[in-house]
Amino acid sequence: MCGPAWPLCLLLLGFVLSAVSRTSGVVITPLAPTVEVGQPLNFSCALTTSAGDTIHQVRWLNPHKQTVLAYVPRLPAHISVQDPNVQLQSSHRGISDITIKTVRPEDEGCFHCIFDIYPKGQQEGKACITVTGKVDHKGNKTAIAGKPTTLSCLYTLPEKVHQVLWRKTTERGERTTVGSYSKYGHQSIGDTFLNRVTLNKDMGDSQLTIQEVKMEDEACYTCEFHTYPDGTRSAVVCLSVYVLPKPDVSYVTLPTGVIEANCSAQSKPSAQITWDVGGDNRTLGPPVFSSHNQSDGTTTVTSTVLLRAGALSDVQCIVHHSALDKPLSVPLTNVSPATVVLLVVSSVVAVLLLCLCGCLCKCFVCTDD
Ligand SMILES: *[C@@H]1O[C@H](CO)[C@@H](O)[C@H](O)[C@H]1NC(C)=O
Ligand SMILES: *[C@@H]1O[C@H](CO)[C@@H](O)[C@H](O)[C@H]1NC(C)=O
Ligand SMILES: *[C@@H]1O[C@H](CO)[C@@H](O)[C@H](O)[C@H]1NC(C)=O
Ligand SMILES: *[C@@H]1O[C@H](CO)[C@@H](O)[C@H](O)[C@H]1NC(C)=O
Ligand SMILES: *[C@@H]1O[C@H](CO)[C@@H](O)[C@H](O)[C@H]1NC(C)=O
Repeated sequence: MCGPAWPLCLLLLGFVLSAVSRTSGVVITPLAPTVEVGQPLNFSCALTTSAGDTIHQVRWLNPHKQTVLAYVPRLPAHISVQDPNVQLQSSHRGISDITIKTVRPEDEGCFHCIFDIYPKGQQEGKACITVTGKVDHKGNKTAIAGKPTTLSCLYTLPEKVHQVLWRKTTERGERTTVGSYSKYGHQSIGDTFLNRVTLNKDMGDSQLTIQEVKMEDEACYTCEFHTYPDGTRSAVVCLSVYVLPKPDVSYVTLPTGVIEANCSAQSKPSAQITWDVGGDNRTLGPPVFSSHNQSDGTTTVTSTVLLRAGALSDVQCIVHHSALDKPLSVPLTNVSPATVVLLVVSSVVAVLLLCLCGCLCKCFVCTDD
């Protein structure tokens, strides 16, 4: 293989061998781990010892060249320096196993393990960590139409984020950019969200606030953390918009004296309607339900019940909705049939007219006698 160039070959071989023997003195594993901030990390450092070597001390240095662990490898190990975040797992012969309990952003860089050996002197190895973050969020959210709501996303390594961007994806798949902001103070909000949506400017805890939630805000929102050098990390939070019911009750007295009472509620999701008729035998048959889906996503539910003549007092319509802590109850007697209102209004007008006539008569026409 070498042929006439064999002296060069030997030279090369010599280089390789010396390089191996120099670096194979101490080997740390893993060599270049990528770890999420907050996670533990194990390092194992191995020294190739030769007969006659005595290890006086083992030291571990963090990327800031601070000693985080130093011990004499006796049985048991005699520890002289120990960072509370570092634990010695095992030490036997030329092996030192440690655990970094939680990796912090400042742990990024190269860790060194150093063996102080007699008579060889120092032997050291190094391993370089890359620390990354993780996107976290509190799950999907439900908001009430007309009320404010806040969606939030967390990135555990804000130091590496240079821009945060929020996108909206509707159920039909339409994507729009809600807004973004950068580390350097630049901020932009999409036209359709201006004056309605605000973004806080935190690089690690991003919050999108909608002042008054509308039906069309129901969608999934993607928060994107643009980081360097790890690239874009994102998460999706979906918003459901609920509409609270505003129950409507009415009744008519049929010619037979039977009362037909209606209770209806428009909401999202649909409400359940029950009746409290205040006693036995007051209804003629069970209530009849009908439901109608509106184009805006709400549903109108109507319940109609027939009541015996005179059984009007104490009747209540009860409306249950998943966004309400307790059901709404609306008494039937609080509403007057339309005819009663008309009667009251017309009698008031009549009285006023009569008064006016009397007055006019007194003042002008009838004063002569
Ligand atoms: C690190 O080492 C400890 C003790 O040897 C072990 O219990 C743990 O599972 C290891 N962790 C990882 C992430 O390998
Ligand atoms: C959030 O909602 C979306 C769409 O409704 C669904 O696909 C996803 O599984 C939900 N995520 C969680 C954590 O509930
Ligand atoms: C009650 O609802 C039914 C069906 O929606 C309707 O036909 C009826 O006129 C309503 N009655 C009253 C008193 O509102
Ligand atoms: C209800 O009506 C049934 C028969 O229609 C009668 O047996 C029962 O006693 C009545 N209950 C009350 C509380 O009036
Ligand atoms: C109304 O919409 C719901 C789902 O939102 C659906 O299950 C139901 O069948 C629809 N009802 C009508 C009458 O279209």
